[in-house]
Amino acid sequence: MEIALSFKDRHVVVFGGTSGINLGIAQAFARQDAAVTVVSRKEANVAAAVALLRESSTRIHGAMADVRDFEAVGQAIVSACAQFGPIDVLVSGAAGNFLQAASRMSPNGFKTVIDIDLVGTFNVMRQAYGQLRRPGASVINITAPQAVVAMRYQAHASAAKAGIDQLTRALALEWGEEGIRINAISPGPIEGTEGFRRLLAATPAQETSAREHVPLKRFGTIEDIANLALFLASEHAGYISGAVIPCDGGGATESVKPALEAAGRLLA
Ligand code: HXC
Ligand code: NAP
Repeated sequence: MEIALSFKDRHVVVFGGTSGINLGIAQAFARQDAAVTVVSRKEANVAAAVALLRESSTRIHGAMADVRDFEAVGQAIVSACAQFGPIDVLVSGAAGNFLQAASRMSPNGFKTVIDIDLVGTFNVMRQAYGQLRRPGASVINITAPQAVVAMRYQAHASAAKAGIDQLTRALALEWGEEGIRINAISPGPIEGTEGFRRLLAATPAQETSAREHVPLKRFGTIEDIANLALFLASEHAGYISGAVIPCDGGGATESVKPALEAAGRLLA
């Protein structure tokens, strides 16, 4: 069967869509003729992302919101839908992370990551709920390997991303009845991203070691994740819902653990 991935006349909204993996996802949809809205906190980031995305599609909108702010998330969705109508694809990918030993982590440091990643994902899904196209909408949450593989110096992100995994499964049960599919992508180490820089590239030796441990012997690319997002949002994935899908080169989740721990020891 031919795989057609045109998103012409579809509205794609990407929270955290102004840099890194999420911007790559937004760009992939823009290249498939979608109308795309990107949302994040910083005006300069939103403006830069909108300018970049307009090279691929004329139907691009940017909005500012901190995903921790339920009302601001709602306003961003109202402005997006005023531009391009109901949402066909919703991506929730805003995240915060840093390496820190739990014994030294402040309560506010822990709460900050839970609030951005987990509460933020709930806020995004909850505020978008009334605007998701029925039937047919696809929600994609961005999780991480830490959700299932315990890693030192990642207590906050591990707890937050594990919560996102279960939120994905729980809402797939509830909203599936309305024809809405909800899935999550769990990227492995993706080169050229902020998360990679913060966690895995503290030293060249650590980076080399991490690469050697990936079964496919390379780091992932932003395009690897964007391709999976295109597939998951397409009709070809029409019976996939409630799934948390790793995109990590084959067990990279487990194998980057030593490198991540080494970085933690250096930086904690
Ligand atoms: C220890 C830290 C810290 C650090 C912040 N805190 N940075 N603690 N080490 N490096 C603590 C602060 O001391 C404070 O607690 C609390 O966290 C909140 O800090 P703020 O700076 O006020 O928070 P805020 O301005 O809201 O910024 C949030 C942030 C920031 C997460 C700290 O870094 C950010 O905005 N990040 C977004 C981009 C990002 O992180 N991208 C990477 C995603 S990668 P106190 O007690 O002092 O008040 C990812 C997974 C990758 O998610 C997986 C790869 C395998
Ligand atoms: P990134 O470049 O730091 O992107 C984070 C995005 O979220 C930015 O657009 C940022 O823009 C926005 N953002 C941050 N905090 C926000 C908030 N409170 N409210 C609204 N927007 C906020 O990160 P990345 O490395 O590409 O990671 C993207 C996603 O992939 C994250 O969910 C991450 O956990 C996941 N992931 C990444 C890797 C990796 O190797 N990089 C691996 C596994 C999982 P503003 O600063 O303008 O708000």
